[in-house]
Amino acid sequence: MALEAAFEALNRQAEQLKGTSLRQLFAAAPDRFDTFSARTDDLLLDYSKSRIDDKAFNLLLDLARAADVEGKRAAMFAGEKINGTEKRAVLHTALRNQSDQPVLVDGADVMPDVRAVLDAMADFAEAVRSGDLTSSTGDAFTDVVNIGIGGSDLGPVMTTIALSPYHDGPELHYVSNVDGAHIADTLEKLDPATTLIIVASKTFTTIETMTNAQTARKWIAGTLGEEAVGDHFAAVSTALDKVAAFGIDESRVFGFWDWVGGRYSVWSAIGLPLMIAIGPDAFSDFLSGAHAMDTHFAEAPLEKNLPVLMALIGIWNRDALGLSARAVLPYDQRLSRLPAYLQQLDMESNGKRVKLDGSPVTEETGPLVWGEPGTNGQHAFYQLLHQGTTVIPCEFLIAANGHEEDLKHHHDLLVANCLAQSEALMLGRTLDEAKALLSASGMAAGEVDRLAPHKVFPGDRPSMTLVYEQLTPFALGRLIALYEHRVFVEGVIWGINSFDQWGVELGKELATALLPMVKGEVSADSKDASTKGLLAALKS
Ligand code: F6P
Repeated sequence: MALEAAFEALNRQAEQLKGTSLRQLFAAAPDRFDTFSARTDDLLLDYSKSRIDDKAFNLLLDLARAADVEGKRAAMFAGEKINGTEKRAVLHTALRNQSDQPVLVDGADVMPDVRAVLDAMADFAEAVRSGDLTSSTGDAFTDVVNIGIGGSDLGPVMTTIALSPYHDGPELHYVSNVDGAHIADTLEKLDPATTLIIVASKTFTTIETMTNAQTARKWIAGTLGEEAVGDHFAAVSTALDKVAAFGIDESRVFGFWDWVGGRYSVWSAIGLPLMIAIGPDAFSDFLSGAHAMDTHFAEAPLEKNLPVLMALIGIWNRDALGLSARAVLPYDQRLSRLPAYLQQLDMESNGKRVKLDGSPVTEETGPLVWGEPGTNGQHAFYQLLHQGTTVIPCEFLIAANGHEEDLKHHHDLLVANCLAQSEALMLGRTLDEAKALLSASGMAAGEVDRLAPHKVFPGDRPSMTLVYEQLTPFALGRLIALYEHRVFVEGVIWGINSFDQWGVELGKELATALLPMVKGEVSADSKDASTKGLLAALKS
């Protein structure tokens, strides 16, 4: 079936299903959970609270076949240059490849280089952790500051927070924003004599990172002397010439390759701060989790394939139901930065308006991704999720077990809240149910009629839930890889290039042109009235 016809069939089925609520779908099929859930090992995806029926599900599978998801998947794993606008292979999967299979780019196996960098990272991380590698003053490093932004920051930050129970190395800090407040507040608490700075930038040209790196350099040189700089810096980049020009010794530079996208780079040397925090063995478990998901994605049939299923429900919500956002709601405090991480992964990948061949897309593409951990969000924005006029599909994440064995009652409450939210979104509460509840509380009839409309929950609001045993390094690696592949499958179905990010360039160019105007070195006369007015207000 052609892709266009597959989308049309999907839209027709969505129209058909309009009059059927989730409540009715569940009532009609007691085995709905078994039908619409899938698992790999201890990772379970429940997508039964999506507004689909068997026919819609089969049409979604037709869509995946029409888009040749399996062929495109094979092309990615095989190192074909599927990032067409940048003429690059897309091989973050090679970074966690634990099979003995070669991975070829332009006919050459990249695995020896991947393993060599991982070994060098492990040696360096162990030396920092053990205190064998000392600072210019002969002290062990107690603190590590990672300076990077976007993919050179979000992955390491998110995973460092997520895996805090596994930390047994120096304390990690992250500086990303060019706002001087970020680096000032971070360095203020630290002693330069015991601080290691990692400058992480794929391109080593990103203005925020270079500006923060220079400020950190001055901080070290200003307190410990210029000759101390070499002992306090390391770098991660694909641009080894630019790192050398910055003055970081090549023995402290960890490379990666142009076939690793920034937002897919946490598995590369960009993960060095995480490795320093949790150690090479736990880092290896993290890679193993991702590799397990790669294997599942490569081998499981479409109808049991978790990334494919999440993508298909994503497409259904976005295109067939026309829902323009998705909320990521981890009931796992340590995944507090997962929504921010997924914002880059998803929105930078699939926020596109033309197809690979440059023609306009025919369907709505990437949704707005946002979220916060539960239960906190319940006391903030869930009001809108339950009773607002905008329907936002939700994605819940919950572990069967926390790490705090003596606080099991906390975890029970967390689980109860997580399940209650998806149940409430799905079921809602009708006017009759609201009235019955109010009457049962002894309220007068007039008051019941006045209050009841406010107590109605429309329900029929879709969600998916991911359950895993515990947030270990393995489970986290598997979870991130799951989302990576989900984004890939959605991009394939939309026919876009999920691996470039030209949309960030215009703002960068204009900022470069504006800087001399902000400094008063160049007239702002050429600018539009608003920009001129704002500049004048800021300068006055
Ligand atoms: O501006 C967007 C972006 O290019 C991201 O894709 C990337 O992760 C981030 O900037 C940082 O880039 P770099 O690692 O080259 O400093």
